Amino acid sequence: MSNQPSLEELRVCLLDIANSPIAKRTHAAFLLRTEGSNEAATIIADALRVREDSSLMRHELAYILGQMQHDSVCPLLETILDDENDDVIVRHECAEALGAIGKEGSIDILQRYCSHEAPEIYETCQIAIDLINWKKSSQNVQKEHAHGGSRGEYLSVDPAPPVAVTAATKEATVEELQAKLMDAKASLFNRYRAMFALRNLNSDASAMALVTGFQDSSALFRHEIAYVLGQMQRSVTAEALSTVLRNLDEHAMVRHEAAEALGAIGGQVAVEVLTEFTHDKEQVVQESCHVALNIIDYWSAPTAEASE
Ligand SMILES: [Fe+2]
Ligand SMILES: [Fe+2]
Repeated sequence: MSNQPSLEELRVCLLDIANSPIAKRTHAAFLLRTEGSNEAATIIADALRVREDSSLMRHELAYILGQMQHDSVCPLLETILDDENDDVIVRHECAEALGAIGKEGSIDILQRYCSHEAPEIYETCQIAIDLINWKKSSQNVQKEHAHGGSRGEYLSVDPAPPVAVTAATKEATVEELQAKLMDAKASLFNRYRAMFALRNLNSDASAMALVTGFQDSSALFRHEIAYVLGQMQRSVTAEALSTVLRNLDEHAMVRHEAAEALGAIGGQVAVEVLTEFTHDKEQVVQESCHVALNIIDYWSAPTAEASE
């Protein structure tokens, strides 16, 4: 982009809940993430404090803070995780962000919420603790660097590092990872490790192996499956994601993630189903559909600015 907005312009846009459309504010938040400075993280943190904002926007902001990895925002993330009156999806994302930042000092609060009543919260806290402990072993971090670092081609800090692949052929690798992914007796952290390894294989076969994860009993697990399918952007998964979005009995967090994944994949199937749910009774779902449709527009009309 030739005329990149200043930090101040991005702050004004992000905090102007009344007048800036959510798609434009989401775009501003991602520009701040790319900018990456501590000052940019402070702007995101200020926006995350605004409780009147939607849970879609605030959970996205918490996610971005985890990705930016500035320790300075940990106290805010802890305060929100600790607030029983705040939104469960936002609190889940704060716990995940604490794991992504990876300070050992966060383990205490994460431990406390490992026995919380909401599975979205206690499962996330358990995974975050496993990640921090995993990173604590310098051997693990060395191995990670040997494999090109945790960000890989997807440029995301994942809640679990991809498991190393041992099978000899591509088909056997997918099978082996799928078995680990769906092993209900394994920890979610280890199942996530298989999930991110399947994502990194980035084939139609590995994407369809991930789709089987929608059968799992954990909503957190299913929402992560939808998230990685969005990262992979394989049109072969559009039907399965549409089925998730259409399922009104599914958790709103999973349907939201399916909507965003469809926005990343694009195409006719995605546009149709997203349009169908722009008035869903769950605010987080309807807003996700608007944002996703906007992203599809944005990419199919490269000269247009991302706004509603
Ligand atoms: Fe999430
Ligand atoms: Fe999300």
